[in-house]
Amino acid sequence: MLRGLARAAARRPGTLWTRGSGSGTGVLAHVVDLRSDTVTKPGPAMRRAMAEAVVGDDDYGEDPTVRELQEKAAKLLGVDRTLFVPTNTMANLISVMCHCQRRGSQILLGQECHLHVYEQGGVAQVHLLARSYGARVHLDGARLMNAAVALHVPPARIVEHCDSVSLCFSKGLGAPVGALVGGPKDFIEEAWRLRKALGGGMRQAGVLAATALVGLADFEEVLLTDHQNAQRFARGFQELESPICSVDLAAVETNMVMVRVDGPPPEELCRRLQAVSADEVAQTGHAVRVLVFPWTERSVRAVWHCDVSAHDTELVLKKWGFVLRQLGP
Ligand SMILES: Cc1ncc(COP(=O)(O)O)c(C=O)c1O
Repeated sequence: MLRGLARAAARRPGTLWTRGSGSGTGVLAHVVDLRSDTVTKPGPAMRRAMAEAVVGDDDYGEDPTVRELQEKAAKLLGVDRTLFVPTNTMANLISVMCHCQRRGSQILLGQECHLHVYEQGGVAQVHLLARSYGARVHLDGARLMNAAVALHVPPARIVEHCDSVSLCFSKGLGAPVGALVGGPKDFIEEAWRLRKALGGGMRQAGVLAATALVGLADFEEVLLTDHQNAQRFARGFQELESPICSVDLAAVETNMVMVRVDGPPPEELCRRLQAVSADEVAQTGHAVRVLVFPWTERSVRAVWHCDVSAHDTELVLKKWGFVLRQLGP
């Protein structure tokens, strides 16, 4: 555990400071970026791993670091084989293309699932139709490790119900790029062909796989810390007792917090959280730019990750308190 924490500390880079925007132009502000867990920057451990990675041509299957990652991940996920790809979008698309090879194949997607909403219709040629019998199941595992940590189960326990899985390294696992697709041997052989056809065959990809290996080495400790920070925020938020914003504590299971907004438009709230002012410094003793996304018409999303510390979380709470006081009851 302690070794894990030390590794986690090595992965957490330093504070980001910036000149403030908004009414307090010129104030040196501390930035806490909660827009997504994709915004993390590789820390010293990952950069060292990249520099030291042993590489080969992965398009010929000759990169030892990629092979090490693929084998390690296959064991962790409890699948025959895995294949390293540039993005989770490609991992999902390859999986769908493998599963739906016959003309007229059908795919059933959740209304809000990423594959449907954000992945640019890559699977639009396949008709959407609810089909609950005899269908194969692909798991979009962009945040599979967060789920495993939150449920206190090995990732393979979740994957065992699926025919194929993707896993993303550039979200909570903190790597700059990379994902993989996993499944049975013949599925991965076909996935290899499709990866090439889609332009996803990479050469000395070991420099990237090395960062993914760092991400996998200590994921339990890192993600647990992210979840605890998100929980701490949610509890602290309730103590603010705001009449216009609220957090459903029971819904905070991993690294994401949805703040319900019943007052100003979420965009306005996000703008105020991002701005720094002399008033803020006078009242809180800090200048903090909190970056969050408006998520729906009535909510704002905040996502914890390895570049946000417990101290940052306290600063974020102070900033919310300040902004909510500004907005008044
Ligand atoms: C649930 C989910 N699936 C897939 C993706 C796509 O991942 P990538 O950006 O690596 O293509 C994302 C990206 O945020 C995601 O949140």
